[in-house]
Amino acid sequence: MSKPVVLVAEELSPAGIEVLSADFDVRHIDGADRSALLPAVADVDALIVRSATKVNAEVFEHAKRLRVVARAGVGLDNVDVEAATKAGVMVVNAPTSNIVTAAEHAIALLLATARNVPQGHSALKQGEWKRSKYTGVELQGKTAGVLGLGRIGVLVAQRLAAFDMEVIAYDPYVQAARAAQLGVKLVALDELLRESDFISVHLPKTPETLGLIGDKELREVKPSVRIVNAARGGIVDENALDLALKDGRVAGAGLDVFSSEPCTDSPLFHHDNVVVTPHLGASTHEAQEKAGTQVARSVKLALGGEFVPDA
Ligand code: NAD
Ligand code: MLT
Repeated sequence: MSKPVVLVAEELSPAGIEVLSADFDVRHIDGADRSALLPAVADVDALIVRSATKVNAEVFEHAKRLRVVARAGVGLDNVDVEAATKAGVMVVNAPTSNIVTAAEHAIALLLATARNVPQGHSALKQGEWKRSKYTGVELQGKTAGVLGLGRIGVLVAQRLAAFDMEVIAYDPYVQAARAAQLGVKLVALDELLRESDFISVHLPKTPETLGLIGDKELREVKPSVRIVNAARGGIVDENALDLALKDGRVAGAGLDVFSSEPCTDSPLFHHDNVVVTPHLGASTHEAQEKAGTQVARSVKLALGGEFVPDA
């Protein structure tokens, strides 16, 4: 009897591939290329993606044998879970695989925006010794506003507290007592916007959160605020942020994610006080290994008809 087929549509760690190869026929494809993806899903039992492959109703129409879609990471916003359910396809992810890595990247961006690390680096490598131009700000004693006190938001809050920052958060789905245990004060969104010296976004991308930080909100912040978004592009509206930076209503931003990816040009790239990375939030060896092995195990359980626990 032929083995079930697992289509790996984006990069997966060798450890994950090893788990799969023992039991399945593992095929590889570039999931961002629709003309290759759609015919390739026709005879597969499982599909493994990261963020570049859009798994929507069109994919399910072409994938009559598909039983499970696995996302080797946290966010499921590139998978239409409703369409999957209608098609009878299970969706699994690796919800804890990269949370430390993502939190550390948010902190890296926050520190980079506070201390102009990339700007000083680029200038010096071009032979320019610019000390006063790149004077930064301290974290100690400042207020950090965490948007979304979930798995990553909590890790970021704990790390920012270690810098002696006062940490406040906006998350209507978290109990104040739980936040208090973490030393975090839950506040309304407008209070967070008014009070924060740094804002770090850790929300899922949903119809509710898309554009949550838009023009109106960016008119409420301190002009000295630095905003980090290592969650999902579009939660901070890019046009509104560009305008706020131009007007000097925001002092800086650290962005790992963009409303359309890959993003190789954006008006935001032209601001000297904007630090950007190409969706590197989950990109460590440790996180990729965990994501790969977690989804590989979940796919194995799902194709074996077994219960798939939350990782
Ligand atoms: P999570 O689900 O654990 O936490 C999200 C939090 O947001 C929850 O506490 C929830 O209550 C809160 N929330 C939901 N809707 C809200 C709203 N409308 N207003 C305020 N709060 C709201 O998710 P997580 O694992 O912490 O991930 C956070 C984000 O980071 C996600 O968007 C995820 O896709 C993204 N992420 C990005 C990278 C990267 O590479 N840059 C890596 C991992 C995760
Ligand atoms: C995630 O949601 O896990 C991240 O955005 C990382 C990724 O896409 O690999």
